[in-house]
Amino acid sequence: MKNIVLASRNAGKLKELQALLSDTGVQLTSQADLDIDSPEETGLTFIENALIKARAVSGASGLPAIADDSGLVVPVLGGAPGIHSARYAGTHGDDQANNELLIRNLAGVEDRRAYFYCALVLLTHDNDPTPFVATAAWHGSIIDEPRGDGGFGYDPHFVVEGRAETSAELDSTEKNRLSHRGQAVASLVDHLRNP
Ligand code: IMP
Repeated sequence: MKNIVLASRNAGKLKELQALLSDTGVQLTSQADLDIDSPEETGLTFIENALIKARAVSGASGLPAIADDSGLVVPVLGGAPGIHSARYAGTHGDDQANNELLIRNLAGVEDRRAYFYCALVLLTHDNDPTPFVATAAWHGSIIDEPRGDGGFGYDPHFVVEGRAETSAELDSTEKNRLSHRGQAVASLVDHLRNP
């Protein structure tokens, strides 16, 4: 059994990831259980911020660490909301304000293409020079009127490429199979099975 710390204070994320890693022999502990503070996310990219979080938590715990960083990327907006997805409108986690700002910024814009992006990293120790890094994108387009009540964040405005539904209209198994995070976690599981 390999102990790894998840660089997140989100109990839901821990539970979900632990279930997905169940047959890899990995036992996850959360950063919150070890009372480790979150570092400032000073990176300019998802990968940099994931590495910053994993490095801080690995250093503080002396254990390997997993971290992810994800968000919505709208190319016509120069990549925004991007790494600022959680606090696009100013307040961390205010999904409604974030969505309203997104729709305002896309008013009159024809190119509605967007993708969710996830960077997921595993550091074996805080000076690990060869971290495992998985990145994944989930493509779609942004609609003005929200649809669906599943998911979170930008899901009600994100129509999945090749489908009629928004990501808030998919059941959670289907979303996990298709999503940026689901794809990145699948790569991590492969890596943990065949290091
Ligand atoms: P985190 O890095 O997973 O905490 O995600 C940061 C922010 O990106 C969230 O607060 C959401 O606004 C947005 N985001 C990330 N993944 C998703 C998703 O699957 N659906 C909708 N919004 C997402």
